[in-house]
Amino acid sequence: MRRLVVLLAACCAPLAQAAGDASLMQRGEEQVMGTCFLCHGVTGNSSGKLYPELAGQNEAYLLEQLRHFKAGARDSSDMRKVVADMSDDDMRAAAHFFSRQPPGRDNPASGDRRALNESTPRL
Ligand code: HEC
Repeated sequence: MRRLVVLLAACCAPLAQAAGDASLMQRGEEQVMGTCFLCHGVTGNSSGKLYPELAGQNEAYLLEQLRHFKAGARDSSDMRKVVADMSDDDMRAAAHFFSRQPPGRDNPASGDRRALNESTPRL
């Protein structure tokens, strides 16, 4: 019996993990489509240079920043409103989703931003 338990744990833990990731991804996508995309883009390749790129960023870092915004330890008038009604699980899901998006070097929006940066006079 004990051997069976060990065997099941060994074989099925990765499956449970994958299923967990899938539901976290889905929940994250709902968060992003609900609000985040307006400023950070659908895949975290942000819509303008005022908004940080989130695609492919470290998941733990993203989650920590969201918790800081929520706690008021990091302030941003935009993000304060965004996190106001997010639960910790919502934040976890959004961080998970953005961390798994490919960073957008080939994204046209990034190209525009590079062009913009190049044409902006240096101070
Ligand atoms: C109205 C625009 C807006 C929306 C909507 C928005 N953000 Fe932001 N976000 C910002 C701005 C502006 C910053 C930069 C804040 C600062 O430090 O001044 C930021 C920063 C962040 C950061 C920190 C990034 C870093 O590099 O440190 C994370 C994480 C983040 N946002 C996640 C989210 C998530 C998740 C959502 C949706 C649930 C979201 N944001 C929706 C404007 C927005």
